[in-house]
Amino acid sequence: MTFSDKRNEDFKANFSQLDSNIVRLDVYREGKQPEDAFYQLELESSELDDEVWDAKKENGRISIFRNDSILISFSGISFSKPEWFKDPDHDFPDKWTTVNQKIDPGAKIFGFGEKSGYLEKSRSRYEMWNVDPGGFYKHNEDPLYVSIPFYILVSPVDSPGPKYLGIYLVNPDYSQFDAKYLSGPNNLGMTVNSESLTMCLITGDSLDEIVERYTDLTGKPCMLPRWALGYHHSKYGMPMDQEEAVDLVEKFRGRGIPLDSLYLDIQHMQDYKIFTWDENRFPKPSDLMEELHEKNVKPVTIQDPGVKIEEGYEVYDSGEEKDVFVGDEGEGDFIGMLWPGLSKFPDFVREDVREWWGEQNAKILDLGVSGIWNDMNEPAVFLGKDRFLDLISEIYEKDEEGDISLEDFHELGDYPVNATEGMIHRDDEGEEIPHEMVHNLYALLEADGTVRGFESESPEKRPFILTRAGFSGIQRRAAVWTGDNTSTWEHMKMSIQMILNLGLSGLPFSGADVGGFDGDVEPELLTRWNQLGAMMPLFRNHSSIGTVSQEPWSFGDPYERIIKRYIELRYEIMPYLYTLHYESHESGRPIVRPIFMEFPADDESFDIDDEFMVGDSLLVAPVVERGARKRRVYLPRGEDGKTLNWENWWTGNVLESGYHTVSAPLDIMPIFIRENSVVPMMDPVQNTEEDSDTLYLRCNLEDSAESMIYWDDGKTKGFEDGEYFYGKIKVEDDGEEITTSIEPEKTGFEPFWDSIKVRIETLGA
Ligand code: GLC
Repeated sequence: MTFSDKRNEDFKANFSQLDSNIVRLDVYREGKQPEDAFYQLELESSELDDEVWDAKKENGRISIFRNDSILISFSGISFSKPEWFKDPDHDFPDKWTTVNQKIDPGAKIFGFGEKSGYLEKSRSRYEMWNVDPGGFYKHNEDPLYVSIPFYILVSPVDSPGPKYLGIYLVNPDYSQFDAKYLSGPNNLGMTVNSESLTMCLITGDSLDEIVERYTDLTGKPCMLPRWALGYHHSKYGMPMDQEEAVDLVEKFRGRGIPLDSLYLDIQHMQDYKIFTWDENRFPKPSDLMEELHEKNVKPVTIQDPGVKIEEGYEVYDSGEEKDVFVGDEGEGDFIGMLWPGLSKFPDFVREDVREWWGEQNAKILDLGVSGIWNDMNEPAVFLGKDRFLDLISEIYEKDEEGDISLEDFHELGDYPVNATEGMIHRDDEGEEIPHEMVHNLYALLEADGTVRGFESESPEKRPFILTRAGFSGIQRRAAVWTGDNTSTWEHMKMSIQMILNLGLSGLPFSGADVGGFDGDVEPELLTRWNQLGAMMPLFRNHSSIGTVSQEPWSFGDPYERIIKRYIELRYEIMPYLYTLHYESHESGRPIVRPIFMEFPADDESFDIDDEFMVGDSLLVAPVVERGARKRRVYLPRGEDGKTLNWENWWTGNVLESGYHTVSAPLDIMPIFIRENSVVPMMDPVQNTEEDSDTLYLRCNLEDSAESMIYWDDGKTKGFEDGEYFYGKIKVEDDGEEITTSIEPEKTGFEPFWDSIKVRIETLGA
């Protein structure tokens, strides 16, 4: 169904359907119908089924109806910049398509991917443009590394529209959103740097359905190896050499602190050249890899996109030979500054370049590296060479004139970290593509190349890629960490909100640098952050060079003892977490969820932003305040306001739905088990290669509880051919005895346990 505008002959708005729950809207000028050039929706469009959908234009306003109820109404569509526009840091061509969506002023907004700030996203503007904020980011800094132009509106029950509506702006171009802010309290505006705009409207009866359908469109999250859920240790500048790497791992093992992965940051490279090893400090990388594997530790190496310009450096030479680098609008290849000095950047837009990148990765994986850490892939460019030379000559000239100002000084010192101006790409046919059109896709396309490395090195293994930047769909390829945060209480709290919104944006596997990246951590914060990290999908301790050590033992007891206890707890609940990870891979649903996702009938739960659910059974209330030894906790109500019994994980005390102040000494992060729930657990092993003989079922049992359990070999893609175990655990208490059973749905793999034990008792911190 297509609309045009009599006053504006050029204007077209075309509705089609992707399935009975998803409608696609293309807005374009006559003759400029958008093509699905660099992005792909996993569902195809067809004519609107007029039994379900209807679109009308009344008083110049286009509205769309689903089953005779209004779904959405647009108060304005234009081909110009909106009034609420915020001047971006980058220059963009003057072509804009703007859509204003009328929304209920009481609507709440969630999603938008990796955004700083609060859980609920109203009253702010958001930019979609992947950047490195440089150093670290502030509380409401925007944009950041990842762009996911997808949000979910939750409208009040008395609103005429649907309670839930997901909206995905498909364009990867630069875009801006105004969420009930300068555009007015009943408006959600979006503008995109393009002559056309494509959006998908996703309907559903619950948040779960919306997120599931969004991932039907953009792809299901990848199934990571089980070690990805273990404890990961990392620090920029450490280990400095092979001996230190082994020493570090031995310290973990000697102290009995579980560990699954050790990261090697840029210091492992020869002069920061990617895919190399420092010949003095890491002379025998394959020996080191072997030693780490013997200790059941998976090595992950960082790889940035910038390739140092240096003849005789194999990666650069082969890149030149295959002409893989991004071009410059002037002439030749784009040259910019990154860690190794002047560098060129692979043009991942091209298929053959992604293949070449895969080959480079395969070589490093062949040495025994288990995972690849894709950093600086917004792409971050400290300074383009031309700009750098211009700056220097300007300063010289000014010096001759005796006219150097404070601004000049700032300009030199405050170098941009996103100097991608001048980059020009080519597609597979050799056609030039302006950088703006593919900027937000750079990391996604890089990940596509990195995956090829894994596939060629060992096609049966599941890849592990950790990426800093990304776009919608990155969940198919990689896990994300939330970049350079700071060792502050404020950042720790904000990480919860960022990770929850990432989960609502189809990206279930993410985590923040535990302990904080920038600045020196204090022992209490490190302890509280490890408690929180133990419940997050990615549990990685990472910090910057020159900051205080934040190993679990860095501050001695009691901190070490408590941190160790929570890392152990992470391993104890591995069967539960791994099951959630598998289910997120199947459905797209998040692993950690805002309280309101599990308890949408409880209005109060929408205001809770410092607690979260892990799956549907555990409620976690981390301590996010310095010195706090108790905290206020909200325990939600069930359907129809039903009071639920919540059991304190540590004490076994039962509390009813409502607000409570609970005790939270330094060794306690409050955790509650939902009424009639069961959490499958194992022994606190030292790494994910070790198994436990017993499956423990930790219950909060009134009469009966159920949970699913998934298990497989943790490494290969065998699960795709049915080599896994999936079953329903049932625990029942008839007042006289407790019985357990597991009803298998799939028995293609022998799970780890020989015996099953019900745990009603508490565990102790
Ligand atoms: C960037 C990354 C950080 C890494 C550092 C050095 O700042 O975000 O995690 O440690 O570069 O490679």
